[in-house]
Order: sequence, then structure tokens, then C-alpha cells
Amino acid sequence: MTPIVKAFFDTATNTVSYVVRDPEGRATAIVDSVLDFHHASGRTNTASADEVIAYVKAEDLKVEWILETHVHADHLSAAPYLQEQLGGRIGIGDQITVVQDTFGKIFNEGTEFQRDGSQFDALFSEGDSFHVGQMRGDVLHTPGHTPACMTYVIGDAAFVGDTLFMPDFGTARCDFPGGSSSDLYQSIQRILSLPDETRIFVGHDYKAPGRDEFAWETTVGEQKALNIHIGAGRSLDEFVEMRDARDATLGMPRLILPSLQVNMRAGQMPPADEHGDVMLKVPINKI
Ligand SMILES: [Fe+2]
Repeated sequence: MTPIVKAFFDTATNTVSYVVRDPEGRATAIVDSVLDFHHASGRTNTASADEVIAYVKAEDLKVEWILETHVHADHLSAAPYLQEQLGGRIGIGDQITVVQDTFGKIFNEGTEFQRDGSQFDALFSEGDSFHVGQMRGDVLHTPGHTPACMTYVIGDAAFVGDTLFMPDFGTARCDFPGGSSSDLYQSIQRILSLPDETRIFVGHDYKAPGRDEFAWETTVGEQKALNIHIGAGRSLDEFVEMRDARDATLGMPRLILPSLQVNMRAGQMPPADEHGDVMLKVPINKI
């Protein structure tokens, strides 16, 4: 089964969102949506999500799933807004509970913040499957970037989130709380054990030195041969040494604090205060 995949690239956060459609019907899944957020003013904007909505409506698609590959740290999810406009169930990996526990503590969320994943409509476990129309989706738990990262394999297309990036850019960072470069190595080996012709759709692109265009689609075969961090049979030890050294040089993503607080709630803002105002926190010297 070869789903029709339409990509939407958000230049503000380098995020790729995907609309994945059953070629024999209207059933659709949306993977990793974006709610625009202007940090300096604290204002949200739905321009990116509205592009997805316009496409879904123009093509008369029926959204069955709104999937998150993980709790993103660099952009806010538009899942609740898309759900309100288009329907569908919001799904994420069941290890979200670990992420909620970690960041519930960091943001002092108190007991009213549930850490059981109940904000989401579906929690997927390793080996689960689901359907988008006639297409089957398989769920792989692919931790490393975060403990809750999932890869969704729908027909011949794998949505790998932040595990592998394009072959010339490499792999995702592993230095967020609960991240692990050795876990990421093992997770990537699982993705690379899919058939060589499997299409891989990555969660971000930043261009790579010498490449002028953004890109987000590759294959398992290309990754195995060419990925600069892990291709050509790179060993676990080599990868871990490279990844950890590189991560030590990286700054925090611009939107990490708002992103985590919103995305661990399935894209909902924190509850309004007694005046009806919604606030996000900035924990000092904690991340
Ligand atoms: Fe991420």
C-alpha cells in the first residue's frame, strides 16, 4: 500500500507536517502539526494549521488520526485546533507518561496535571497497529531523542519524527531529559531493518552544508548507505561518541519552554487562572 503523502514545511521551526492519505479513499492521518507561536509577544496564530485544513477540505479528506511522533520541544502542536476543525483522534506513544512525569516536576504542575496520558485519545505501545481507511499503520517505539518517540509505518511510508534526519544532516539530538544516544542508535537500527524501498519522512530539515533546498523524503536504502552519522555500518560506540560530543555544543531550541508545557497536554494550553488568563511558566535554571 502506497499512501499519498503531502508535506507542509514550517520555515519558522523547520518542522515538516504530513497529511497521509489512503490512495483508495478519503481516509487521512495528520502527522506532527504546528501551531504558530511568537515567543516575544506570547501570541499564537493558526496560519500553518489553516494551510493543512484548507488542503484537507479542498481534497474532501476524512481525518481519522492526528498523530504525534513525540512531545516536540521546538514547536507547539496544533492537534486540538485541527481536531476541532476536522475531527480525528489524537494519538501518541504510551511512554508520554514518563515525559509528563519529568516535565510535570520541572514546571511544578501540581496534582491537577494528570501524568497518565489521559489528555490524548489514544496511547500507542510498541507493536500496536491502527488503520487509516484500508491502510494499516504499525507502531514502533523508537526512543533516544525522547523516551516516548514513536515511528509510524503506514503502508510503505515511515514517519520517523526526530530519529533520522536527511542523510546529509544525520540524526536528532539526544540530550533532552530522558534522551539517550545509545537508545537512539538501537531505534535507528530498527528503522533501517525495514525494506530498503521504504519511504522515510523526517520530522525536521535544516538544509545541510552544500544543500540549498529543504528536503524531507528519503528511503531506508539511502539512509543505510549515506547517513553521515549512522550510515555505512557505523558502530554503536562511534555513534554515541559523535552524538554526545555534538549535543554538548547545541543550544536549547527557542521554543522549548512553551512547547513542552503545551505539547505534554496534547497541545492544550495550561488551564486559565482565576481571572481567565492563560499563562506559561519560565522555570529559572532548571532545564
Ligand atoms: Fe523533537
